[in-house]
Amino acid sequence: MSKGLMLYPEPKSATPEGKPPFPYILLKHREIPDIYKLEVYRANSGYAALAKTLKEYKPEQVIDLVKVSGLRGRGGAGFSTGIKWSFIPKDESIVKYVACNSDESEPGTCSNHEIIDGNPHQLIEGILIACYAIGSKIGFIYIRGEFARGARVLERAVEEARAAGLIGKNILGSDFSCEIVVHRGAGAYICGEETALLESLEGKRGFPKLKPPFPANVGGGVYGAPTVINNSLTLATVPHIMLNGAEWFTQWGTEKSKGIALYSLSGHVERPGNYELPMNTTFRTLINELGGGVWKGRKLKCIIPGGSSMPILPATDEVLDTTMDFEGVAARGSMLGSAGIIVFDDQTCIVGAVLRLVEFYKDESCGKCTPCREGTQWLVQILHRLEHGHGRPEDLDLLLNVGGNIQGKSFCLLGDSAPVPITSAMHLFRAEFEYHIKEGRCMVGSGANRPPKREVAVAQ
Ligand SMILES: Cc1cc2nc3c(=O)[nH]c(=O)nc-3n(C[C@H](O)[C@H](O)[C@H](O)COP(=O)(O)O)c2cc1C
Repeated sequence: MSKGLMLYPEPKSATPEGKPPFPYILLKHREIPDIYKLEVYRANSGYAALAKTLKEYKPEQVIDLVKVSGLRGRGGAGFSTGIKWSFIPKDESIVKYVACNSDESEPGTCSNHEIIDGNPHQLIEGILIACYAIGSKIGFIYIRGEFARGARVLERAVEEARAAGLIGKNILGSDFSCEIVVHRGAGAYICGEETALLESLEGKRGFPKLKPPFPANVGGGVYGAPTVINNSLTLATVPHIMLNGAEWFTQWGTEKSKGIALYSLSGHVERPGNYELPMNTTFRTLINELGGGVWKGRKLKCIIPGGSSMPILPATDEVLDTTMDFEGVAARGSMLGSAGIIVFDDQTCIVGAVLRLVEFYKDESCGKCTPCREGTQWLVQILHRLEHGHGRPEDLDLLLNVGGNIQGKSFCLLGDSAPVPITSAMHLFRAEFEYHIKEGRCMVGSGANRPPKREVAVAQ
């Protein structure tokens, strides 16, 4: 992609030679200008994986290869992609679909959109291979409406591919025919949740649906047809695996989290950006070496390891030496999620930070279920009075109580996520919450300079 169009600053190299610390695979657009154009993509082995797949593999063999590669979904849960594909009924008379989840609304996560903007054909090729593997004739790309540029890039790439016979009837002279439809959402975090995405794709309000039936079952997917829903990064990785083989992919990563992944690094760090790394890279390497360390020479306070909905982790050596794979992060009490790593420096008031995060969940609650709709409002109100000097001693228990009445009682995982920042922050930094109640101001950061507790009447 030409420099003029580059939205995402390329992180500066960590090596003195000026080379990226790891060869670009998914991020090839950073070294190959204009790879978003079909001719450039094809000149750099683009669509060779599709051609190879159609020529050399039966659909079941594609699913087996993806299973063997160990590729796990990059959308949050880390479920095996090959196994997910194998759930789709094999009966040829049943209509099936692939839906690519390009909503990417998780705060702290921005890697999907770099791929979409920089190398859309890579994604389209992955969707076509997925469609071939499960016997689908239509692949949908659900993209968040606000990412208008990404949607235009995708629409143009689909047109280019269709004109070149890569989308449509008898692709590359084979028996395989497939269409790709780009669908713009209207912009709601909930529409990234797979069942809400399906509703929105069908033109309905983006409310999550009860499972079962699961999307892979008859009755559960788009228009009731069995549907594979995968994250954009998951699907963009597939052509590389088909071209280079499962063993090539498994050379990186850990025993259960294979290959490479994209990590979005944000927050109080010198060099934020997307980093492509083997899945056995540690937080320390990402934050301190590649990311240039905590900004302004400050100390690390804590991190959120997987987008804003995952528990906060403290800045211990143990955490920093943890590899950024699904099991490694889980062993520390959090989750890799969407691999968005958010860094907080020691000048961060944790109460203020948590308030901001929970406000997001309150704003984005779809309102379908009472615990999430009402509970997130209450959480914000309590946190707001804590942050602004009107906290009461009983507020800490109240926060946990309200959180406990949302978690596990909501219709979908959005509600379950909302209290996570509070519980993990209170576990790690309880003294800061208590300081807020006692002193009426922050312990650190600019809020520490506020006048002490204001003795004013507080709305109950
Ligand atoms: C509230 C909420 C928002 C989500 N947002 C996204 C998203 O923006 N992109 C995404 O791929 N997955 C998102 N997910 C996860 C999806 O429901 C689904 O698990 C994922 O797209 C599956 O793809 P994968 O198997 O390739 O990981 C979200 C889940 C929840 C509960």
